[in-house]
Amino acid sequence: MVKTAHEDLHSEQGAVRGDRQARARNPVIKVEDLAWLEFEKPDLDAAEQFAHDFGFATAYRNDVELHLRGTLPGSQCVIIRKGRTSRFVGPVFRASTRADLERLARANGISVVDRRGLGGGAVVALEDPSGMPVRIVADVEQLPELPGQAPLLLNFGQVRRVNATQRPPREPARIERLGHVVLETPRFGRALDWYLENLGLIVSDFLHFPGQRDRGPTMAFIRCDRGATPADHHTLAMHLGPSRRYVHSAYQVADLDAVAAGGEFLKERGYKRSWGIGRHIQGSQIFDYWRDPDSVLVEHFADGDMFDNTVEVGWAQMSASGLAQWGPSATRDFIGAKPSAHMIRDLVVALGKQDNEFDIRRLIGLLKVATS
Ligand SMILES: [Fe+2]
Repeated sequence: MVKTAHEDLHSEQGAVRGDRQARARNPVIKVEDLAWLEFEKPDLDAAEQFAHDFGFATAYRNDVELHLRGTLPGSQCVIIRKGRTSRFVGPVFRASTRADLERLARANGISVVDRRGLGGGAVVALEDPSGMPVRIVADVEQLPELPGQAPLLLNFGQVRRVNATQRPPREPARIERLGHVVLETPRFGRALDWYLENLGLIVSDFLHFPGQRDRGPTMAFIRCDRGATPADHHTLAMHLGPSRRYVHSAYQVADLDAVAAGGEFLKERGYKRSWGIGRHIQGSQIFDYWRDPDSVLVEHFADGDMFDNTVEVGWAQMSASGLAQWGPSATRDFIGAKPSAHMIRDLVVALGKQDNEFDIRRLIGLLKVATS
């Protein structure tokens, strides 16, 4: 049965004949979820301090490696290794079984290797068509649950809290789990097909540049196909742009008060809010975006959409005003209106190269997104 979950707010359109595929007919495997994200940073002490203020717990730490986790059982959310500069290394996805890893490795002409390091398991190391290293793991030892932050008892709808006050403590939000990562790529279409065909991911929503519906999507919100078991609206989101780069990653907290009180805590500690608090359209999350000390963008979120594999793809126009149902206007910092020298260099290179999907009309579309 096909449900339509895309009828509200900028998301009213469905697919039409000839659109880019939203799911592969016969993917090699279907991954279960993102396992964790890997970064490098020069200062692990500063990274750990921010991580604790943001709401992570340290799962493991030595001189060259820091593992950060949430309260839910599972693997760590983030691995940070000591490196010369602050950079995103790549995403790691979790396959259901070692047999899936074998199938994926065979399809790509490589072998499964035993994973070295904490938690063991097995790994397949691939590269997506953008050149992003992507690893897929299985049988990694799972961390036990930690005490979490309970959602507040709310007197919405009916009275549940009587003779008791609402006094959430001013403390860091407690991260429950990793939700999603967003990447930019100059080879959007090829990269998208690669994730659909190799990892069995399926598209929840496509966005197109203003006035360029006929040229196909330039952003995709992609979820895991877990059959009848609901999955996050997007585990991976990708958009077309001049750079191959990490955009942001998002971590779930208990509820709106955890987002807001956790945000107040970060503000008091002097960290820089990029954009928030608001509620997204694609995915519906209540969101709050922060910059870590290396200016890496990270998101607290709560109450995101969970879709099983019956929900068909939605289509909408990409615009800065269409990023949220409510909340402050998207900031220049968030939408990348203040590009770094590095990003400007990537733009010039991308426009000069033929081997990517970023051209002058796409640049005009991207500029329209920022102002619409
Ligand atoms: Fe996000």
